[in-house]
Amino acid sequence: MNILEIIAKKRDNKILSKEEIDFFIKEYCSGNITDYQAAALIMAIYINGMNEEETTNLTMSMACSGEMLDLSVFGKNVVDKHSTGGVGDKITLILMPIIASLGIPVAKMSGRGLGFTGGTIDKLESIPGYNTSVEIEDFIENVKNIGISVIGQTMNLAPADKKIYALRDTISCTESIPLIASSIMSKKIAAGANKIILDVTCGSGAFMQNEEDAVKLSQTMNKIGKLSNRETICVITNMDEPLGYAVGNNIEVIEAIKALKGDMPQDVKEVVLELGAYMIKLAGLGENIEENKNKIMEKIQNNEAYQKFIQLVENQGGDISYVENVEKFPKAKYIIPVISSKEGYVEKLNARKVGEISGTLGAGRIRKEDTIDQSVGVMICKKISDKVEKGDILAYIYANDEELGNKASKDLESLYIMKNSVVKKPKMILEIIK
Ligand code: URA
Repeated sequence: MNILEIIAKKRDNKILSKEEIDFFIKEYCSGNITDYQAAALIMAIYINGMNEEETTNLTMSMACSGEMLDLSVFGKNVVDKHSTGGVGDKITLILMPIIASLGIPVAKMSGRGLGFTGGTIDKLESIPGYNTSVEIEDFIENVKNIGISVIGQTMNLAPADKKIYALRDTISCTESIPLIASSIMSKKIAAGANKIILDVTCGSGAFMQNEEDAVKLSQTMNKIGKLSNRETICVITNMDEPLGYAVGNNIEVIEAIKALKGDMPQDVKEVVLELGAYMIKLAGLGENIEENKNKIMEKIQNNEAYQKFIQLVENQGGDISYVENVEKFPKAKYIIPVISSKEGYVEKLNARKVGEISGTLGAGRIRKEDTIDQSVGVMICKKISDKVEKGDILAYIYANDEELGNKASKDLESLYIMKNSVVKKPKMILEIIK
């Protein structure tokens, strides 16, 4: 078997065998297949797709490429959460401390930004000192001690995904059902939870642009979940405009901290409550979804969720004085208002383009070795359905380069599509796929 034959087979739209997929994963991880050969195969998969069997084989091969965690010490229902990615998606930062404050163990491995989407790990690293690369033993110890740990992908768990994820980001191969499903499910399977909740984002700011594809992705991941004995629920959520107001890194962390103190944007709240309510159900702590939502609100109102976030940050070496006083986070040099030259009701605000604008300011990566700028991004003031008068401030650009900031401001203004008549607020929860 050799990699050239495997690339040629997928290039010609043929089906790869389990042995061929295992060969690729094993040899790529051990450095015997180069990045450019892997890139060619990934591109061929992106273009020609994979059937269900290939996708499952790819997932299992990636999951077994490193250690497989056993979290059974935490009980029989260990729940994990993952999002397929979005713009302004700070749900993990808010939801996981809430879940931990309810006594449900949280052992969460999160990702970095991919394409135009942001990543929880990049955001967490904007808290000085927060260590995202924790050894597995310490990761488990943290969960035992304080009920929560959120770390980046270690080289030990699903290392094949870590390599392929970074590669996909730099060769425009992010929006693919078999690649997303295998990436997410391999990590979740290796990370040891037996119940999985997936936030499958849908719309202009998601990899799945329409509900039909979001359902297909959900069904693929549910099937992999069943085959690997992990109960999986997918919640399809709206990502047609950025989630919340902040898009960037430290500005999203600040928004998440405020949310944990009770000041939560309505769209963020709907997603947090729905995902959280299903997590509580999967953990076996409540069958009634509406009652579970009340339990979540209680943990925010009594400050326990916020305290759990502080504990998490402290335990991972982060400087909690930044959490306690968000004014300490470094601010971008230029904060440029985006002024509306039109009036009406906001009808559309393409989330992907907002993510790309934030990326041009330095919030994302072009090459996998790029470092990101923690303080830049976009702070939205007007969202879909809001009424706008000429001269109103639509958003602020946070930039460290004035020229880039001014260009971003012009680009963002042109993204706002207005309508003369009233526009309804978008529905956030589109479907639940079990
Ligand atoms: N999140 C992942 O972990 N992988 C993807 O491919 C997309 C989102």
